[in-house]
Amino acid sequence: MFYDSRTNEHGLPHDPFKALVAPRPIGWISSKGPDGVSNLAPYSFFNAISSQPNLVMFSSNGRKDSLTNVAASGEFACSLVSYDLKDAMNRSSAPVGADVSEFELAGLTEAPCKLIDVSYVAEAPGALECRVLEILPLSKYDGIDTGYEMVLGEVLGIHIRDEFIEDGLVVASRLNLLARLGYMDYSSAGDVFSLDRPKS
Ligand SMILES: Cc1cc2nc3c(=O)[nH]c(=O)nc-3n(C[C@H](O)[C@H](O)[C@H](O)COP(=O)(O)O)c2cc1C
Repeated sequence: MFYDSRTNEHGLPHDPFKALVAPRPIGWISSKGPDGVSNLAPYSFFNAISSQPNLVMFSSNGRKDSLTNVAASGEFACSLVSYDLKDAMNRSSAPVGADVSEFELAGLTEAPCKLIDVSYVAEAPGALECRVLEILPLSKYDGIDTGYEMVLGEVLGIHIRDEFIEDGLVVASRLNLLARLGYMDYSSAGDVFSLDRPKS
C-alpha cells in the first residue's frame, strides 16, 4: 500500500506511522517542579542524537508537566527502562496533576542525581543527567503545526549499575531494555548479536 502521509488517509483502523518507525527507545524523563515535587513520565519520541558531546532529545505533545518543569529548571534526567520495569513505566504515564509524584504512584525509589537537582529511578539499570540546550517548537516548517515541542539536552553525567558491566562492556542482554513499537505494543532488546562493519 501507499498513502499520502500529509492527508494521513491510510484507510487502516489505526495510524501505522509509529508502528513503522520502531522500535523506539523509551526515555523515562524525570524533572522537578517549582514546588519541589518530582515528576516522572515515559517518552518514546526520544533518542540519542550525537556522541561526544552526548546529546539526547525528547518531544512532548503539548505542554505536559515534564516540559513545563524542564523549561523552567533547565534540567532533566532520563532513566533506562528495562523489561522488568515495564509496569512501573506504564503506571508513571498516568495523566495526574503536577502535585503528584509519579515515583510514588509507580512505587519507585528516587535516587538523587549528582550534577542536577533532579531524582532518577533507583531501580533502573542506569540514567542520564541532562541540561537543556534548546527547546524547539515543531511548528515552524511550511505551515506545519504539530503541537509538539522538542527538548534538546546535553548529557552531563551517566549512571550505570555495576552489575550491568562485564569485561569493560555494558551487557545489553542483561539490560534487556524495553522498546516501544506501534499501537499498544512493546518489545525488549535482550536478544543480542554482533556484526562487524565492512572494511571497504
Ligand atoms: C511508552 C510511552 C511512551 C510515550 N511517549 C510520549 C512521547 O514521546 N511524547 C509525549 O508527549 N507523550 C508520550 N507518552 C505519554 C506521556 O507519558 C503521558 O502523557 C504522561 O502523562 C506525561 O506526563 P507529564 O505530564 O508528567 O510529563 C508516552 C507514554 C508511554 C506509555
